[in-house]
Amino acid sequence: MTADRRQFAKTALGSLVAYGFLETCHRNNLFAETVRPTIDAWFKDLSAMTKDLRGRKLTDLEFQKKMEELYAKVNLEALCGFVKLDEIEKTKKLPDSGALSAGFDFKKIPDLGEVTFGKQIFGCKKDRSIVPHGHLNMCTGFIILKGEWHGRHYDRLETGKDHYIVKPTIDRKFKPGELSTISDHKDNVHWFKAVSETAYIFNVHVTGYDPEIKGNSGRLYVDPDGEKLAGGLVKAPKMTSEACHKKYG
Ligand SMILES: [Fe+2]
Repeated sequence: MTADRRQFAKTALGSLVAYGFLETCHRNNLFAETVRPTIDAWFKDLSAMTKDLRGRKLTDLEFQKKMEELYAKVNLEALCGFVKLDEIEKTKKLPDSGALSAGFDFKKIPDLGEVTFGKQIFGCKKDRSIVPHGHLNMCTGFIILKGEWHGRHYDRLETGKDHYIVKPTIDRKFKPGELSTISDHKDNVHWFKAVSETAYIFNVHVTGYDPEIKGNSGRLYVDPDGEKLAGGLVKAPKMTSEACHKKYG
């Protein structure tokens, strides 16, 4: 290569790097100026309705409905940008069994106030699952951020010593932007299996919303592949986390 051609290549490369850098800055500024206010307001609405649930201004079923309405109008690209999904994908390894749980923070949202819900991003490799489990005294909602999932929900109708009686309610594919919610009174058990190479879900959960429900809000692991009963019900054995991950993780 001649000195002139070397210089030309170097300058062209420098320009491309600078152009890429400016593009990134431009995109970040655009995100800060245009999309961020929308997502900030969305989190504020979520926070307000959580307080209404805790203050008994909303029943859990009303909260579920409102949460689904709010989830349905989120700007998915903005939500993925806000939680930095691209960084999670680059830096966090998806486990060989079960799901990754990754955090994000609200520090940059002005005037959000006290946040009384938990949140996380779940990620799975293909054919791995957020294993079947129910919840006690918890409302929670999923939105698919990326990839495709097979999602199943069940109503938890009765609790026995070593089993639950459950009724299948949802059994279908979920694509980005699609959502599902849980409360103690509707669709209480969920199970999401990744069907694309990688797949990610946004999750918010509100624990201990009803002071009259006794017991802690941890996961109730369950095997929905139990004895079939009349009326489409299933006698679903209780499981340990270990046994559930071994069979479904
Ligand atoms: Fe859950």
